[in-house]
Amino acid sequence: MRPANISMPYFDILLEQLKLRESSIQKAFGRHVHWGYWENPAEADGSVEDFAAAAEALCQRVYTAAGVNEYEQLLDAGCGFGGTIASLNEQFQNLDITGLNIDPRQLDRARHEIKPLANNRITFVEGDACQLPFADASMDVVLAVECIFHFPSREEFFREVKRVLRPGGRLGICDFVSTPFFKALQQFLAMVTNPMISGTFGRADSCFTVSDYRALAQKTGFRVTSQEDITRKTLPTYPVVCHVFDQAGSPKAVRDVVAVEKISQLGLLRYFILSFETK
Ligand SMILES: C[S@@+](CC[C@H](N)C(=O)[O-])C[C@H]1O[C@@H](n2cnc3c(N)ncnc32)[C@H](O)[C@@H]1O
Repeated sequence: MRPANISMPYFDILLEQLKLRESSIQKAFGRHVHWGYWENPAEADGSVEDFAAAAEALCQRVYTAAGVNEYEQLLDAGCGFGGTIASLNEQFQNLDITGLNIDPRQLDRARHEIKPLANNRITFVEGDACQLPFADASMDVVLAVECIFHFPSREEFFREVKRVLRPGGRLGICDFVSTPFFKALQQFLAMVTNPMISGTFGRADSCFTVSDYRALAQKTGFRVTSQEDITRKTLPTYPVVCHVFDQAGSPKAVRDVVAVEKISQLGLLRYFILSFETK
């Protein structure tokens, strides 16, 4: 059962399709549920296999930005079906990894799909990223791969991450960020755009700019260690995701993805990888 306080219609579609074992959905979103990263976007071939490889590349880029070392304790907040954890499990040994998700249905799939390798320890926990059910100073690294826009508050999340990280701990994220102009426009048009997009994505706050992230880091006790605008390198995602939702018989989701594609092509909505270290 999905908790009453969250609504992410696109996950309802994905979970339904995954139950049917439809192969393009399995390949595209059976492991990662985030956009792809193409070092050379001109080489993207539009196939789900190519998209799956690009999605894998994106998560690797996020955890590389945060820095991960053997014997560390790592939290993946908003872990989806555990794709980032599966990748870490394949690339590292002696890690203690916890995946947190508010949606128990996704955790059931993650538990079923991922088995620890190479002396790694993997635990999945149901909970809200803004009220982390972990002790103070219990983690070395926290990751949040394409999920912060769903959280009730970026500030509460950062405060919680600061609390659970040990001194010198790192946070790696990727997120959609607004240009200042698009932020103002969205705030002006909120009554129109929010109900439109939320029909597919649920709560999705993309009114945060890179400057807002820098100010938030300062306010919550972090310093920014890297920031990378990868918008252009994610653009081949959109046709593949539209194709997948089209096959799933979800025209509304296709329209909403096309809307996000257009504003991304216009450069109004950017896609960033950011990493932070506690001060
Ligand atoms: C776009 S998916 C990304 C999933 C995963 N990080 C990945 O990259 O495959 C967003 C995820 O955030 C999770 N989520 C949304 N709100 C949350 C919250 N308040 N606390 C924890 N997880 C949340 C969703 O259930 C979903 O798994």
